[in-house]
Amino acid sequence: MDFERTRLLSPGFADPRHALGAGDIIVIGAGLAGLFTALRLAPLPVTVVAAAPLGEGASSVWAQGGIAAAVGEGDTPERHAADTIAAGGGIVDAHVAEVVAAEAPSRIADLLRYGVPFDRDLAGHFVLSREAAHSQARVVRVSGDRAGAAIMQSLIAAVKATPSIRVLDGYEALDLISDAGSGNADRITGVRLVRTEAKRTGTFDFMPASAVVLATGGAGALYSVTTNPMYARGEAIAFAARAGAAIADAEFVQFHPTAIDAGIDPAPLASEALRGEGARLINGAGERFMLALDPAGDLAARDVVARGVFAEIAAGRGAFLDCRAAIGAAFPQAFPTVYAHCRAAGVDPVTQPIPVAPAAHYHMGGVATDLAGRTSLEGLWAVGEVASTGLHGANRLASNSLLEAVVLGARAAQDIGRLVSPGMAHPIARTYRTGAEETLDAARRSRLSQRLRQTMSAHVGVVRNGAGLEQALAILSEIGEEAGDDRVVVNMALAAEIITGAALMRPESRGAHFRSDYPEPDPALQHRSAVTLGEIRATSARIGRSAPQPRCEELQT
Ligand code: SIN
Repeated sequence: MDFERTRLLSPGFADPRHALGAGDIIVIGAGLAGLFTALRLAPLPVTVVAAAPLGEGASSVWAQGGIAAAVGEGDTPERHAADTIAAGGGIVDAHVAEVVAAEAPSRIADLLRYGVPFDRDLAGHFVLSREAAHSQARVVRVSGDRAGAAIMQSLIAAVKATPSIRVLDGYEALDLISDAGSGNADRITGVRLVRTEAKRTGTFDFMPASAVVLATGGAGALYSVTTNPMYARGEAIAFAARAGAAIADAEFVQFHPTAIDAGIDPAPLASEALRGEGARLINGAGERFMLALDPAGDLAARDVVARGVFAEIAAGRGAFLDCRAAIGAAFPQAFPTVYAHCRAAGVDPVTQPIPVAPAAHYHMGGVATDLAGRTSLEGLWAVGEVASTGLHGANRLASNSLLEAVVLGARAAQDIGRLVSPGMAHPIARTYRTGAEETLDAARRSRLSQRLRQTMSAHVGVVRNGAGLEQALAILSEIGEEAGDDRVVVNMALAAEIITGAALMRPESRGAHFRSDYPEPDPALQHRSAVTLGEIRATSARIGRSAPQPRCEELQT
């Protein structure tokens, strides 16, 4: 197999030759990345397309930790960048880490202006949490573990007060439309939308766009055990790849080591900040198993801890987070969100260890972008978890994701703003009905997506191997075939296929990508990866499976 082609040379980020064309600026996704981008684009008219009403359905709302930024005494952006690079398994783009860390304090100041009530001490200094693999306490937080919810609350209020932002909720994007008619198939000119499941109308809508910003979040819901909301299904990776966009680092999926193991879907999180406060991981026999695995013990890098927890569970010893001594009676006030999750799961963390298991949590891979959020396709930007900038490498440093969302959101907005010609009028976008949507009945759709999610957890999880990855590709191929013209399932199957194919194409272990058949890193593979849909399909074909053909018929616009 020719692994050279997995090297990320440069997917050739689009260098827009034209000012923006007709149509609105469309931001797909209403988590932190999407809303921050829309706010920074004001007063340019923007339509934000969201699957659920604002504040529901986005992972950002569930973020417990906070935002990493060098705002504490004695800390520097250089140290923050160095920790980011050290955690990332040797493939973090150092320039990206330096830029993001350097801009972090300014973006925190922006969030303060939007009204985010970050925790402060009596002297007015930020209260900072410590999380794994940070060399010092560096995470700005709100009410202990309520950062995501509080940040989103402030931004939603700001969005509602911004007349140039229109929110279209209850819609999902299924496809990007390119300018094929004018011979420029690489220029994205619109999106194909459909009403979400609860509000199906049976038709597709087309919305023309001068610029499309993907801010759709992650892909954790492709797994049966995940901390992500149900709409984090990686569909934008699928439709961007189908439109020809380069996808980077797709094999790197981060598993959070301490999801609360109570059979709840999605799995509630027990924040890493608990371990920052001294909580200990123990097995069923009460042994602190992390001490034998890494000198940093419970605060080792997230991939190391996830494998430690995975191994204890696989060995039948179970894994628990013991907060009794370190936090004890202070738990309900110090970590109200985790406390509520524990009580809902029937555990009292003041007096009982919390049963935990690894869960798909964050996708380091995604649509490849540069530092302006530009993808390899003209007219298409990507920000937040759906994008892959090179900041996270093979293993994201805790609380760098909300940071990346705001830094890249601001940068993408600035880039798009530069392409708007003076005096150009942006009509508020209209949508056009374009045709009938074909979907599976709800029971069949649910059965296929459950099979897909179980396949991903079983074969493309914390520990993978070549045989399991090949088996997963074969099952995903069957699911893609059976999905017929149901775009949601087709997109899920394609996103899962891209992650699985990329994992098969990296025969080594690095960061969150651990192959039991190649347990060591291979210095020759110490680079980011980029794959196109064609390469994934060639891999599927080479291993003797016929992967589903992209179902991207000519779209009538
Ligand atoms: C956590 O609070 O443990 C999650 C933080 C993150 O994923 O960055």
